[in-house]
Amino acid sequence: MEKLVIKGPTPLRGEVSISGAKNAAVAILPATLLINGICTIENLPNVSDVKQFCEILKFFGAKITWNNEHEITIDTRNISKTSELEITRTFRASYYLIGALLGRCGKVQVGLPGGCKIGARPIDLHIKGFEALGASVEVSQGNISARAKKLEGTSIYLDIASVGATINIMLASVLAEGTTIIDNAAKEPHIVDVANFLNTMGADIRGAGTDVIKINGVKELKREGTYSIVPDQIEAGTFMLAAVASRGDLLIKNCITKHLESIIAKVVEIGGIVESNGDKLRVYCKKRPNRANIKTLPYPGFPTDLQAQMGVVLSIAKGTSIINESIFESRFQYTEELNKMGAKITSQGKSAVFDGVEELIAAPVCVPDLRAGAALIIAGTIAKGTTEIYHLEHIDRGYEHIEEKFKKIGANIERIKI
Ligand code: EPZ
Repeated sequence: MEKLVIKGPTPLRGEVSISGAKNAAVAILPATLLINGICTIENLPNVSDVKQFCEILKFFGAKITWNNEHEITIDTRNISKTSELEITRTFRASYYLIGALLGRCGKVQVGLPGGCKIGARPIDLHIKGFEALGASVEVSQGNISARAKKLEGTSIYLDIASVGATINIMLASVLAEGTTIIDNAAKEPHIVDVANFLNTMGADIRGAGTDVIKINGVKELKREGTYSIVPDQIEAGTFMLAAVASRGDLLIKNCITKHLESIIAKVVEIGGIVESNGDKLRVYCKKRPNRANIKTLPYPGFPTDLQAQMGVVLSIAKGTSIINESIFESRFQYTEELNKMGAKITSQGKSAVFDGVEELIAAPVCVPDLRAGAALIIAGTIAKGTTEIYHLEHIDRGYEHIEEKFKKIGANIERIKI
């Protein structure tokens, strides 16, 4: 067990470099199972979700060499297994194994996915897609199995623009016979990254990043290739909001401004200043942020994965703000932790009201989920006194070297073994 100990308040100043996108990596890694060959993946974030997925892939027969902290060469010529129930259960993104192994082997059995407790998170749309492609799917005793003699391209309409379902159906369609159309597809940057990776390896996917994606099935993918993971939009947004909350001045390097338009608009609305220059963004704020109303939406709207980080900023903003979380049913657990630090937040279902206070006061807090963990680090940085943060395993799933990155920009932060 470990805890983070943060002494505040300190303004965050300096340069921070953004790592590869966790949510792209946990989709591209299983996507390699569609390749009867060897490929190299660069710019992987050094986070536990990536390391755990590499262990899972080895279980199915992949051979993985770590060339350095951020790069693997993965040999997926001999996929010997299609069923694993234990380790896949603890891990949200393991559902991508279904699309990938259905596409590669025509059968798969995994534990139903775990992941952050932010809502029910069903996978009915994934299953609807697999069945539309001709697979038979069975869910029983907490496991899901699917099989298909042949996958045939078809048109699939997604009732919700689900990121996971969009990617999973894409994976199952790449080697199917004929053309698959995904309508009302999600448009997140990491969906485009998965499509770009697969196209680099010889797939024929068009329209990723729009709400209609067309996949022309191919016989097989190339037997070798190299791909570099896109920079993490959510990590970049996390540091943008940290700069505003701490009234600091950060140069955020290795980010794609295009992916951050909704966050830039909101940072400017609450009084931050944003200067973009190529793959660098300077974000600073010299005064207490203004109030604002936020509604989380599928991309290109304001991301649900930045909702908690924005909540920290609004907890100390001038005036009263409202956040409407339209994607997940219960993504406000972090507000109880912020209220322990003197925030005045009332959450009810999918909305929360923030009565801005002058400052937060340090307190011991517990991380309920990955993005709330990043939010609590920002809160500890701006709170008066010494904050202790417990349950770091959630944060380590999706943020690389988080305390080093915060220390480098001025935070007084230590990771302590308990
Ligand atoms: C992905 O989760 C991300 N996880 C989440 O990031 C992110 O918050 C979410 O997309 C939205 O952007 C990964 O990529 C591993 P969805 P996912 O399917 O795929 C409902 C993080 O912090 N839904 O777009 O599970 C669902 O319940 C994590 O990095 C169905 O009803 O999200 C939710 O209300 C947290 N049926 C909404 O759609 C389905 O079959 C959006 O879910 C699928 C989803």
